[in-house]
Amino acid sequence: MTKPSEDLPENLVVLGIETSCDETAAAVVSGAGAAPGEIRSNLVLSQLDEHRPYGGVVPEIAARSHMDHIDRLVEEAMEQAGLTFAELDGIAATAGPGLIGGVFVGVMTAKAIALAWEKPFLAVNHLEGHALSVRLSDGIGFPYLLLLVSGGHCQLLAVEGVGRYRRLGGTIDDALGEAFDKTAKLLGLGYPGGPAVEQAAEYGNPEAFDLPRPMLGRPGLDFSFSGLKTALRHAAEKAGVLGGGGNDQTRADLAASFQAAAGDILAERCTKALETFQQDYGTAGPLVVAGGVAANRSLRARLESVAAAAGSRLVAPPPKLCTDNAAMIAWAGVERLALGLTDPLDFAARPRWPLESLSAHG
Ligand code: KG4
Ligand code: ZN
Repeated sequence: MTKPSEDLPENLVVLGIETSCDETAAAVVSGAGAAPGEIRSNLVLSQLDEHRPYGGVVPEIAARSHMDHIDRLVEEAMEQAGLTFAELDGIAATAGPGLIGGVFVGVMTAKAIALAWEKPFLAVNHLEGHALSVRLSDGIGFPYLLLLVSGGHCQLLAVEGVGRYRRLGGTIDDALGEAFDKTAKLLGLGYPGGPAVEQAAEYGNPEAFDLPRPMLGRPGLDFSFSGLKTALRHAAEKAGVLGGGGNDQTRADLAASFQAAAGDILAERCTKALETFQQDYGTAGPLVVAGGVAANRSLRARLESVAAAAGSRLVAPPPKLCTDNAAMIAWAGVERLALGLTDPLDFAARPRWPLESLSAHG
């Protein structure tokens, strides 16, 4: 970690690279670390078609595809931003957590540019990218309560500052995005699962199936979704719609019932978390939701009522900044650079990297 530099320009321009899962992404963002920032370019190349035949992400295919596309994407992001590498203040890349082959590709690309142009390198934690994305879009201040719901994570965190995260609770089994993806697979709704379930649920009756709400009413702030998934499988089997086929309306009803159960679980946990947050920080939030699942409109509406009932408000980035993107990585880079938190070029990519360990990072 280097010390904050006195001659940093007020408006920092950072190139961000994201390759930790199945999206190859490059973006240029500028800002002063006090949000909101300006997105100068934001390109996302989805590998959906390459993974669709397997019904999930294949790590080797993902890494190869990142390698094939990242250079061109970075070039395009720079072109759209109308900037040369020489005009950048820093180069940020997701350095973990994620599929390590892909993370390597992004980190190596960023390091090569940083080295060639003698620019600071910023190793960004993917989850910190999600956690700070709301400051890029809405410019809110610290602290806030964060519900981070993505394909690999489901956590409640108190965000106290850049690199300062306190975990209040998390899933003891599946992540919520994973549960959405599995539900879509069980119902034959296609891939990726989240948007497919949301779409089907629009035509379904959320009260048609009585699915369980695991952990509801339990002490603490943890989540569990595997019981819900198992119940959904049994219900789908009984109704003759397992793996697709059968009645479209029944599948829509099951999707809607699943989404309603997920909404109830999030609502109860967030209500409790807001109480805890108020006690610990003396303020009623705001409640921020981030990560891919935060793109779900029905869940967002549900969380809006939860926040309002607690005298708080829900702040959520626009859907394009909820699912994986490089603008959030570039932004985390801006925030870290503004604090002088740059990283050495021998910083190692890591498959696991808990957010709470971040303050010690560097
Ligand atoms: O944040 P993200 O793009 O990648 C990870 O870091 O995991 O999140 C992807 C997850 C997937 O599980 C996907 O199904 C879910 O977010 N997702 C959704 C929606 N859009 C994406 N889940 C529910 N409703 C959506 N509209
Ligand atoms: Zn993500």
